[in-house]
Amino acid sequence: MSIYEVNGRQYTADPKPGQCLRTFLRDLEVFGVKKGCDAGDCGACTVWLDGKPFHSCLVPAFRGAGRKITTVEGLAKDGEMHPVQKAFHDAQAFQCGYCAAGMMMTVASLDPSQHQDLPHALKGNLCRCTGYRSIEDALHGRSNIEEDVAGRACGASLPNPFTDAILTGQAHYTMDVAMPGLLHLKVLRSPHAHARITTIDKTKALAVPGVVAVYSWQDVPRRLYSTALHEDHLVDPDDTYMLDNVVRFAGQRVAAVVAESEAAAEAGCRALEVDYELLPAVFDPVLAMAPDAPLLHDKDVVTEHGNVYCDLHGEIGDVAKGFAEADVIHEATYSTSRVQHVHLETHGSIAWQGDDKRWHVRTSSQGPFAAHKKLCYLMGLRGRDLHVFTERVGGGFGGKQEMISEDLVLFATMKLGRPVKWEWTREEEFIGATTRHQMTTKVRIGARKDGTLTAVDVHVVSNTGAYGNHGSETLGAAMASPIAAYRCENKKGLGVAVYTNMVPGGGFRGYGASQTTFAIECAIDDLAHKLGLDPLAMRRKNVVRPGDNVESIWKEPGDASFGSYGIEECLDTVERELARGNGVEKPAGADWAEGKGVALAMLECGPPTEHRSAADIRLQPDGSYHLAVGSCEMGNGIVTAHQQIAASILGVRARDIHIVIADTDRTPYDTGTFASTGTVVAGKAVHLTAEAMREDILDFASRHTGTERGACRLKGDTVLCGNKRIALAELHAAGTKVEHRFAASRKAYLSPRTIAFNVQGVRLAVHRVTGEIRILHSVHAADIGRPINPMQCRGQLDGAIAMGYGWALTENMVHEDGRMVNPQLRNYRIPAWADTPRTDLFFAGTIDRIGPLGAKSQGECAINPVAPAVSNALADALGRRFAHLPFTPDRLFAELAKR
Ligand code: FES
Ligand code: FES
Repeated sequence: MSIYEVNGRQYTADPKPGQCLRTFLRDLEVFGVKKGCDAGDCGACTVWLDGKPFHSCLVPAFRGAGRKITTVEGLAKDGEMHPVQKAFHDAQAFQCGYCAAGMMMTVASLDPSQHQDLPHALKGNLCRCTGYRSIEDALHGRSNIEEDVAGRACGASLPNPFTDAILTGQAHYTMDVAMPGLLHLKVLRSPHAHARITTIDKTKALAVPGVVAVYSWQDVPRRLYSTALHEDHLVDPDDTYMLDNVVRFAGQRVAAVVAESEAAAEAGCRALEVDYELLPAVFDPVLAMAPDAPLLHDKDVVTEHGNVYCDLHGEIGDVAKGFAEADVIHEATYSTSRVQHVHLETHGSIAWQGDDKRWHVRTSSQGPFAAHKKLCYLMGLRGRDLHVFTERVGGGFGGKQEMISEDLVLFATMKLGRPVKWEWTREEEFIGATTRHQMTTKVRIGARKDGTLTAVDVHVVSNTGAYGNHGSETLGAAMASPIAAYRCENKKGLGVAVYTNMVPGGGFRGYGASQTTFAIECAIDDLAHKLGLDPLAMRRKNVVRPGDNVESIWKEPGDASFGSYGIEECLDTVERELARGNGVEKPAGADWAEGKGVALAMLECGPPTEHRSAADIRLQPDGSYHLAVGSCEMGNGIVTAHQQIAASILGVRARDIHIVIADTDRTPYDTGTFASTGTVVAGKAVHLTAEAMREDILDFASRHTGTERGACRLKGDTVLCGNKRIALAELHAAGTKVEHRFAASRKAYLSPRTIAFNVQGVRLAVHRVTGEIRILHSVHAADIGRPINPMQCRGQLDGAIAMGYGWALTENMVHEDGRMVNPQLRNYRIPAWADTPRTDLFFAGTIDRIGPLGAKSQGECAINPVAPAVSNALADALGRRFAHLPFTPDRLFAELAKR
């Protein structure tokens, strides 16, 4: 046995053969050490060895013996946070917080010279949420937080209530629990894009020491379902089995192995002997629509025809007439690429049976209630026999609007009677989780000489991959707001979502609208250039206005409505800021060309399908409040925003609201935290509930004190009743005597859906030979209504914009015959610090009359105008359109060389 000193505490232990320091430390229950990749690419696992930072996933555990190991839990001394932790606290330099431990361990080790070159010094630490701005603020000693003052919570930049726990490594993410008797599950994934499994021989796998069970398609319930999480399960096709005898993409689950350790489960997977009958595969959705294309699904799965899972079409006005009236018509095809969410915390769940004999699932999900329903259906459970919850989720971005880990762990624990855990690897995220749908959009658009649009015709082909989860809904979103953003009497659209043997698409920030926003915003620029008009003026002329029917291609009336209108202010702001010329100069030399581009995006806040939420609130004996909301916190800041909404109605400090979230036992129902609903639906439920609580308190206080109701009002932790003042704690005690419970609950449902806008401006330089792109100036204006927490809203926008730059410039899933050839962070390349331009951010001064306390949605839409603004700037610089994402240097170089 060796001695390990971790955070000043001695452990006597021996690592397993080949074990890395990261997993060894976690076996010691030092959970501040996180995993983002296990390949040395993300820095989430950074610890110190004798005061020097290392990626612990790359360090053999035995090397830690006899050395001083420090993790984030050991950074604070004598109860005092380390100065770096304090700086991260004051700048709120995190969102989901999953990267923060590793980031701080690196930052705390930097010497003054490294501080002079932060992009280089922090190249080994990735953050997917923040866009790095708040981290930079922390490193420069800037504070972004305001004081929590009773009655003034709304509109204040208040810190996340779990800040201290996150920054000291005490916050528990999904996998950060130890459990006696825990088993580990791993899956064997298909190497083939399309094949029938003829036999699975489990013998050798079961003989691997430590392997407890192996499950294949014959062992699990044969029930079709969709992995997508929505309120209405009918919007997604039931086309998936937990384990199937046909694999339809390279990366699909083939069999599950459960073992005493992860290593044994992996060895068990390797020992499985599987025979496949290879089937013809198709990867291109256009080819998949051909009459002789191989069919992905048999008749059990309902499609429109062949591999076309869903088609959507419609026309308003008369598009043929509109084109006849046009002076200029532009027609072109634009396409967007498949990208992955890369939430730093991978998917994972743990299931067990409690002492209450019920089944419990702890999961990294954006929709525990929707997952609960699906699990009950699959396992034949009654709702009351199953408990699903999240604690702290390390990012989602739509990737966790999917039930893709919970089913197998629950199945295995029900079979084996022991707790079972499944934590995904980074490679599995790329090959087995969902992606943004790849879409190709043909746009035909006509206008009069003065720029007035006369006709818009859009044809979208969406590659939904092997399964149709989110296929129709993302297609619906693609055919909605990007087209509805422009007023035009004649609009037409046809969209198809097509099955192919690719990894399935899924929900992803921007949800389908991102893809067609790219196409339409590029087409608007191209049309403006043909007309000799300024593209920004073209947008101003044609963008929807209050009083317009906000309509896309469908004649049926919609429920989108202007609760406020800030697009003009956003366009003015971006135009002004680009003209001001902030940012940096173009590099010297004739090989560098410079261009400017702008794009806008519109968001109907919330999904068109039903989305429900509820909140419960109780006054506590000490005069504070207990708030329960079903929505999830995954870095979206919703816990803070909900506290602030309740606090501002009840006139207290945000920290007087104690909140629990996302738990099917402890919180009321919530459809799920996706589709930008955290503020406008769950926040609305909180708003209504807090109002009901206030009325209940004042009614009781009026009766209790014999004061007229109109003379009673809340003031902090007291009620003023005329000239009497009664503390809430005292009132609670009085209520208890007469069995008055001081509890309220309200539900919310989003209709009408209000409308938000975002405008992105980009000035860039592009190297005419190599295709290298440098962002010289990035400016963004957001019409998101009243920011409940301006700091957090800026963070959401920063993160979404950074993701937009990643989509446009660095991220690329490369597939050959359906297999991803670069399923590693270092080869896929989400933006690192050095890749992420700092964006000048502005809010339109709108206060919405529909959203809670004047707020609108803001988590998603900022990503949508980024890629088209880059494309428009590129076209401006080079005088020609690059219509197909991404603009990675290799692709741009090839294009430039071709031309
Ligand atoms: S988990 Fe070690 S660097 Fe990513
Ligand atoms: S806060 Fe950095 S990954 Fe989420």
